[in-house]
Order: sequence, then C-alpha cells, then structure tokens
Amino acid sequence: MGPTMTKHYIGGAFVDGDAAAIVVRNPATDAVLAEIPGASAALAARAAEANAQAARGMRAFPLLKRVELVRRLGAAIRADVARLSVALMQESGKPIAEARTEVEYSASFFDNAAAAAEMASGELPASRVADRRVLVLREPIGATVAITPWNFPLAMIARKLAPALAAGCSQMVKPAEETPLTALLFAEIFDRVARDCGAPAGAFGVIVGDPPTVARELLAHPATRKLTFTGSTEVGRILAAQCAPRLIKTALELGGNAPFVVFADADLDRAADQAMLTKFRFMGQTCISANRFLLQKSIAQDFVERLESRMRALVVGDPASESTRIGPLVNDAALAKVEEHVRNAVAGGARVRVGGSRVAVAGLSSRFFAPTILENCAPTMQCACEETFGPVVAAMTFETEQEAIALANAVPFGLAGYVMTQDADRLLRVAEALEFGVIGANDGAPSTAEAPFGGRKDSGLGREGGHHGLDAYVDLKYVSLRVRA
Ligand code: SIN
Repeated sequence: MGPTMTKHYIGGAFVDGDAAAIVVRNPATDAVLAEIPGASAALAARAAEANAQAARGMRAFPLLKRVELVRRLGAAIRADVARLSVALMQESGKPIAEARTEVEYSASFFDNAAAAAEMASGELPASRVADRRVLVLREPIGATVAITPWNFPLAMIARKLAPALAAGCSQMVKPAEETPLTALLFAEIFDRVARDCGAPAGAFGVIVGDPPTVARELLAHPATRKLTFTGSTEVGRILAAQCAPRLIKTALELGGNAPFVVFADADLDRAADQAMLTKFRFMGQTCISANRFLLQKSIAQDFVERLESRMRALVVGDPASESTRIGPLVNDAALAKVEEHVRNAVAGGARVRVGGSRVAVAGLSSRFFAPTILENCAPTMQCACEETFGPVVAAMTFETEQEAIALANAVPFGLAGYVMTQDADRLLRVAEALEFGVIGANDGAPSTAEAPFGGRKDSGLGREGGHHGLDAYVDLKYVSLRVRA
C-alpha cells in the first residue's frame, strides 16, 4: 500500500489517525492489506470543520471550473482503472473483471454530473402580478457528509460526490471499515486533479474510523447540511434520528428485497440471462439483487432448468483471476446469514436443487458459497422476508398476475423489482403496480448514472443519479422583485 493509503484526507492534506487501528483484510486470502490508525472524535470534528470551510470555497468556485473538475475526475478514474480495480478487488472480494466494470460505472457518475450541472438553469415563472418578477435561483446546499458501503467501494462515493461537487458543495466521506483503501486511493487521484483545477482545498475528504464516533462528529457540526447514506435500514433509521434535531437533509439508500417475476409469456432464455445479471453481480451482494424469484407455475420448471445450466457455468474461485465470476462473500457474518437462510428454507420444506453450501477453493479462505437454487420456497421463509445478500435463488410459484403483484409487494422494502414478459400491456401494467423505485422490465441490470436511483418504504428516501441527483445538492431560493413601470 502507498504511504498515503493509511492516512485520512482532510482539508486537502493526508493526515495520520489517532485512534484504534482499522484492520483491512482480503476476504479471499485473509491477508491483512493495511492497518489504518482510525480517527478519534477530535479528528472527526476537525474533518467536519475542514469540510465546512471547503463548502464556503466551493460556493465561490465558478460553475465552469466545477464542471472541469468533475469531468477531469471521471477521466482520471478511467486512466487509473488498473490500480483502482485491484484495490477494490482485494478489499471487497469482487471479481477483478467486475471490479473494472465498477470503475467505469464510477467514472460515468462524474460524466453525468458534469453534463447535468452544465445544463441546469433557474426559473423565471410567468408573473401573476404586472409589476413583479420572481427569479428562482439554485444555490449549493453547503457542507455534506457521505457514509458509503463496502459493496461498491468506489461507485457509491462517485454517485454521491460527483453531483455534490458539480452543484458547488463539499463532501466528507466515511467509507465502510471493510473497504477504505479504494476511497483513499481515489483521494490521491482527487488531490492531483483538484490541485490542477485550482479547486478549494478539502472539497472532498475521507475519514476512516469507528462509525458511530465519526458520524456523530460530522453530523454535529453546525455547517453540515446534508447526509447521504447507503447501507442498512437499521443504520439508516439511527442516522435519520441524528439528523432530525437540526433538520439535516437526508438521502438514504437502504436495504432491498427485490422480486424477479417471470410470466409464462416471457422469452425464457432472455429472462434467465437477465436473472444471472441481477442475481450474480457481486455474488448477490447488491441492494438491487433479485432476492425472491416469483415464477408462473406453468413455466417454473423450464425457467429453473435454464437458470441452472447457466449457473453451473459460473467459475467460483480467486477474485484476482480473470475467469472468476463468484468470489468470496465479504466477511464471516455475510456467510453465516446466507447459510442461515438456506437452513431455514430447507427446514420449512424448500428443496436445494443446486449448491446449498460452501465451496472449498484451494489455498483461499472458507467464505465461498456455491451458486444455489432453492425451490418450493414460501413467502414466510427468511430467504423471502429478508435480504439474503448472497448467491441464492429463492424460487416460488404463482398462478395469476394479481397474485404475482401481491406477492412482489408483500415486503416492507421498495428498492428494485423485475418483471419478465413479452406482453407489452402486462409489462407496463405490472411495472406500474410494483411498489419499488427501480423497475427492471426485461432488464436485469437497470443501474445507470442518468437514472434517479432510490427506493420507497423501508428502502429509503431521495434519489441519486441524473439531474435529480444534482438537484439533491441544490437549495432553491426565490427573489421576488418589484419593477417600477
Ligand atoms: C447498491 O447496491 O447499493 C447499489 C447498486 C447499484 O448501483 O446498482
């Protein structure tokens, strides 16, 4: 690891930590990748103050300079794809080919935010009163805080930071303890680009440490105006409560429990291909991974056979290898949850059609879980009520469209849902009836930088991506102007 990768990035400088070390391990090998001295409450308070100062600088940093900064960050990420993808693969266990895809996905958020900022404009609504004009101005909301997850160590920073900078805000990021190294490597890249562009020092920062301590200090600073968080619903609720006293604006991208509905009139090969995309991207460890497979009874066996043959071709192994599609789960707790869901389903009458247990990979850790199909699942099982976050297909059947919609919506979550059919009327009808923020209609990979990503119900608040993502960092102000005739 480079010398700066064990330091925090605060106020445009790399600084040493002063609290208990965060140990970063490779989930595939168990090797210690780094020990990062964490941030104390005092250091976190210093980071919050640096973020507040940088917000003042960013407010005065002209639009075209911001757009240049954001565009160049996207280009710099692409130019550094080799180093970024290796760091990301090593600390998260994401297979290297997929890690490179994440790097490109990350860069696309910078392209999108730059374009959105360039096109953004205020308003001059038609006046109801002859001698009055109303000017609607867009202003940056100020200092922002981002708390990001381990499953997308770079892309979730990009999704939050790019629009923040483009809108003229600063952002202090606390990455997950499992994956701080990609964030710190990106900080090196940011530092170089920001200096070249003459950006205010500290427009972006990274602080690593005990989550409650760091979050408390960052949110306590009077200048902090927004929190954007991606993670569990449980933690999202705690953070929202901390934001409530000062009415800090929140964007919460929380857990999901995505249904994948296959109708008898679907193109089953196409549906199986799309299922592979949503289910096995990062071994099912994404918030939009399909969790419950709802299959119309007449085609259930046929669909499962097609899925099984595709799953048997997945290479389980070292995430550093180009051919690997299934690497280790991120940690022991993730593995234990997947095992518990399989046990619970089998105890309730489900049948393991393929997989169902760990896979031994020579010389590597024991966190590899076989791609699994559970048939005959029921809506009351853990694998249907909770987010499994692993490579498990929980299949159950339905008879009618109404039944499918009711089953799909019968969870407190509302992030992503999928519908597979060739009937255009049904496609739109079901897409409209699903209570989720993202619908994959014959599409197993709906995430893209230009779309307003986000959930409903227990899956959270706010949208990220597209011009909506930029708007989330903008405060509107109107000036009511009397004009003498
Ligand atoms: C997530 O899992 O939180 C994000 C998924 C995505 O951007 O596709």
